[in-house]
Amino acid sequence: MCGIIGFTGKLQAADILVNGLEQLEYRGYDSAGIAVNDGTTTRIVKTTGKVSKLREKVAATKGIEGTCGIGHTRWATHGGVTDVNAHPHVAGKVTLIHNGIIENYKELTVALKEKGYTAISETDTEVAAMLIDSLYNGDPFAALREADKILEGAYGFCVMFEDHPGEIYCMRNASPLVASYTEDGAFIASDMVALLKYTKDYFVVPEEHIVVMTKDDITLYTMDEKVEEPKMLHVDWDTTAAQKGGYDYFMQKEIYDQPEALHNTVLPRIHNGHADFSADNISDDIFKGINRVVITACGTAWHSGLIGRHLIESMLRIPVTVELSSEFRYMNPILDENTLVIVVTQSGETADSLAALRLANERGAKTISIVNVKGSSIARESDYVLYTHAGPEIAVASTKAFSVQCAGMYLIALKLAEVNHKMTEEEMADFCKKFEAAIDTVPAVLKMDDYIKTISEKIKDTFSAFYLGRSLDYGIACEGCLKLKEISYVNAEAYSAGELKHGTISLITEGVPVIAVATQENVLPKLMANVEEVKARGAHVIMVTDKDMSNYEGIYDDLIQVPNVDDLFGTFGVTVALQLLAYHVTVFRGYDVDQPRNLAKSVTVE
Ligand code: M6R
Repeated sequence: MCGIIGFTGKLQAADILVNGLEQLEYRGYDSAGIAVNDGTTTRIVKTTGKVSKLREKVAATKGIEGTCGIGHTRWATHGGVTDVNAHPHVAGKVTLIHNGIIENYKELTVALKEKGYTAISETDTEVAAMLIDSLYNGDPFAALREADKILEGAYGFCVMFEDHPGEIYCMRNASPLVASYTEDGAFIASDMVALLKYTKDYFVVPEEHIVVMTKDDITLYTMDEKVEEPKMLHVDWDTTAAQKGGYDYFMQKEIYDQPEALHNTVLPRIHNGHADFSADNISDDIFKGINRVVITACGTAWHSGLIGRHLIESMLRIPVTVELSSEFRYMNPILDENTLVIVVTQSGETADSLAALRLANERGAKTISIVNVKGSSIARESDYVLYTHAGPEIAVASTKAFSVQCAGMYLIALKLAEVNHKMTEEEMADFCKKFEAAIDTVPAVLKMDDYIKTISEKIKDTFSAFYLGRSLDYGIACEGCLKLKEISYVNAEAYSAGELKHGTISLITEGVPVIAVATQENVLPKLMANVEEVKARGAHVIMVTDKDMSNYEGIYDDLIQVPNVDDLFGTFGVTVALQLLAYHVTVFRGYDVDQPRNLAKSVTVE
C-alpha cells in the first residue's frame, strides 16, 4: 500500500522519481507526488490520479531541478482522494512521504495544536510531519528517534530537512523499505522493482532502523545511532521482468509467465522422485512429528491454502485448517510445537499475515512461509522459507503468484509425506511424474486464449456470476471468482456446488453465468447434478474441466476443455483458463485490468 522512492546523487531526481513511481504504481494509484531539492529550495508537484498525470504536471512545471528528491504514489487510508491529501507533506522544515498508518494521529493532532501546528490535509501523514518538525532542533536523527518513541502504527518514512540539502533520512517500522548505493547515487524505495533500472543489489531496511542517504553514501543505523552493516541481497530479475514486454497488460503477461514460473519453482526441487529442499536450507526436522497444520494467508494466497488443505489431508491424514490471517491473529489460536504453520504470501509484507506469523512464532509453532519477494518481512521472520520463483508480479490481480503458491503446497505436501513415511518410493515417484505432467499442460491452456475470449464475450455484460466446485475444485472456483470480481466488477460469488440450494440458488435467473469447475472424478456426478439444478433455472453454464464431458452434453452451454491430468493435480490447467476468462471479460467491459479501483497490490495495513 503506497509506493515510496527517494534518490540523492549525481543525476536529476525528478525523472528517476517519476519513473520509479510508475513501477510502484501497483501499490496505490489514488494520487502521486514528488518533492525535489536543488540545494536551496524544495519544490513539490502532486496530483490526484495516476503517475502519468503527475508526469504531465511535472513536465509542465518550471524549475523542478535538483539531484535530491522523494516521491510517493498513494493508496488513500486517512482522508479522501484530493490534491491536498497527496504526499509529500510539509511541516516547517520537514518534507515527508509515508507508507503506513499512524494510529495515534488524533491525539497527536490535539497535542500539536497546542504547539501551534494546524494541519491543512486530512491525513495521518501530515501529523507525522508536524511531529517530526516539532522535535527537530537541527539534528534529523534525534528528531526521528524521538518521533519513533511517540508514533504508534506502521510507517516507512523518507524525510528531507530544509537545512540538510542533498540528504534524505528514512525510518522504518513495519512498512517495507529497500535501499541501495550505486555510482549514480543512493536509492530507497518500497519495493525493488523501482530500482531495477539502476541496480540488482540492495538491502532490506530492518525494522526500527534509520537510513541516512547522501549523494556519496548510504548508511544504516540502529535507533541508538550505531552504524550497522547492511545484509546485501541480489535479484536476478532483469529490467524486462517488470515490463509488459509487448503484452497489453501486466496481468496478461503474468498469465503467460506461468509455464516458466512453475518450472522455476518446481523443477529444481524435484529430484529422483523426492521433494528436495536442500538448496532452500529447509531442514526435514520442521516436518517431523507434526500432528496438525495451520495454513494462514489473505485473498488469493488464502485460496492456495484451500488447495494445500486438500492435498495434505488426503495424502497424510493430518488435520489442516486454513485461516484468514486477519481472523487468525485475533482468535487466540491453539498452537504448539507439533503444529506446522504455513504462511502464504506473494509480497511477504501483508500486515495481517505478518501478524499471524508473529503469533505462531510466539506460541512455539513451527513456521514455514511460501513467499515470492526475497528478503521480505515474512520470509525473514519464518523458521524457514520456500521461495516461489515467479519474478515480480505487478498486476494487482494475482495470477502467476497463485499458481506457484499452489505448486509450493504440492511440494510441501510431498515433503511432509516423505518425512512422515506416508508414501512409498513408488508413490512419490508417481506423484512427481504426475505433478510435472500437470504443470506441462499450462502452455496448451494458453493456446486456448482466443477460444476463451469468445466465451468471455458471451458473458461480458452480466451483472452477476456464480462459480461452483466441489472438493479441490472449490478452492479453484474461489480463486477464479475473485479474479473476475476484482477486475471486472461483476458481482461474482463462489460456492461449494452442494451448498447453492441452501439459499443462493434463488439468485439464479435466466442467463446468469454459472462457471462450474470439474477436475475431481469422484464428485463429478454430484457436481453435474448441481449444474442441472441451475440449468433448469435458466443459468448459462460454462464448464471448465479436464474431464470427459461426453456423458453430460446438453447440460452445459459452453465447454472449456483443458488437457486431462490426474485428479490430485487438477489445479493448474483450469486455474489458467479461469484467469483468461476474467481477463477477457474485463477487457470487453473496458476497465483497467492492472489497476482495479480501490485496490492496491501489497496490503501493509490492517
Ligand atoms: O502479498 P500477499 O500474497 O500476502 O497478498 C494477499 C492478498 O492481498 C492478495 O493475494 C490479493 O488477494 C490478490 N492480489 C488478489 O488478486
